[in-house]
Amino acid sequence: MKILVINGPNLNLLGTREPDVYGSDTLADIIGRVEGHASGRGITLEHFQSNDEGALVTRVGQTRGEMDGIILNPAAYTHTSVALRDAIEACEVPCVEVHISNVHRREEFRHRSLTAPACVGQIVGFGARGYILALDALIGWIEDRDRV
Ligand code: DQA
Repeated sequence: MKILVINGPNLNLLGTREPDVYGSDTLADIIGRVEGHASGRGITLEHFQSNDEGALVTRVGQTRGEMDGIILNPAAYTHTSVALRDAIEACEVPCVEVHISNVHRREEFRHRSLTAPACVGQIVGFGARGYILALDALIGWIEDRDRV
C-alpha cells in the first residue's frame, strides 16, 4: 500500500511557527515518526510539502493509479481552495484531512473547510499525533472498502 502525506503552506515552518498552537516538532520530526509507523505496518510512505496552491493541486491530481491514499493537511488552503477540493474529488483517491490544532476552537474563518467534504474523514486537534491517527484510520478505511 502506498500513502502520500501532503502538507500545505507554512507547515515547513513547524517547530518555530506558533509553538503554543502547533507544538515544537518540526515537519521532519513528524514525517520521521509517521514513516516509522508506516514501515512497521508494511506501508510505503511519500511526503510532499508546498506553499504553492497550484503545486498542491498538481500533486493531488497525479495520485490516481499511483497512490492508495492521501493524508492531507491543506493548512490555510483548507478554508479557501475550491481548486484543491476539486483535485481531491477528481483523483478519486481516498483522502483524510488533518489539522494539528483544533480549528473549531480558533477564529471563525477556520471553522469552515472547503476540502473536508471531498475527504473520507477528518482528524482535528490532536497535534502531530493526528498524522499517525490519520494513517491508521485511512488504512482501516481502505481495508474495509476492499474487503469482499
Ligand atoms: C492548520 C489549521 C489552519 O487553519 C492553518 O491555516 C494552518 C494549520 C492546522 O494544522 O492546525 O496552517 O491546518
